[in-house]
Amino acid sequence: MRAEPQIQPLEPTPLAMHQLQRIERASFSEPWSMAEFDFLASDERSVQVGLWCDEHLAGYAMALIDTDDCHLINLAVEKAYRRLGWGKRLVLALLDITAARGGRLCHLEVRVSNEAAIQLYAGLGFQQTGIRLRYYSKPTEDACVMQCRLPLQAGRVMDLMENKNG
Ligand SMILES: CC(C)(COP(=O)(O)OP(=O)(O)OC[C@H]1O[C@@H](n2cnc3c(N)ncnc32)[C@H](O)[C@@H]1OP(=O)(O)O)[C@@H](O)C(=O)NCCC(=O)NCCS
Repeated sequence: MRAEPQIQPLEPTPLAMHQLQRIERASFSEPWSMAEFDFLASDERSVQVGLWCDEHLAGYAMALIDTDDCHLINLAVEKAYRRLGWGKRLVLALLDITAARGGRLCHLEVRVSNEAAIQLYAGLGFQQTGIRLRYYSKPTEDACVMQCRLPLQAGRVMDLMENKNG
């Protein structure tokens, strides 16, 4: 039996990158390539957190920070670990790190059909600010643009971590 998952900074080791590709391919119709992940890892503006059960990677969240502006660019949780609150916790951990680095506004794009992710982001306080037409391919689809101000209020973070509504 695997250990309780833990969220930790995601270092681009060969083991991590291999597992990351597996989750990425299972989660997206247009998965990022290894070269794209390598490129991101070498960018000092990037922040990456992973969900680890010992040596097993079960999810990740990634952002790019440019001065006070943070762009959440990737989030995925392995199927067996979904609907357990880990996606939400990964984003919370990422927002916590980005806020500590000076991020004051976080924005993201999400497929308009991706109800699960849109609900997750809305639950964290993200609001829709626009639509990017035909932003995605495979299949072609609009993106919903969402953003939230950082840092999230400390009390609210505790509630979210404990899965309270509000
Ligand atoms: C989106 C994703 C990361 C959610 O991860 P998760 O660990 O299952 O999410 P959580 O358990 O933290 O869920 C948090 C909230 O999101 C919403 N949510 C998550 N999955 C949902 C689903 N299948 N249907 C509807 N709402 C969902 C719910 O509001 C949920 O809160 P609740 O459990 O209290 O109802 C996961 O489904 C995934 O990896 N999908 C494929 C990749 C992807 O779409 N990434 C986002 C790109 S923008």
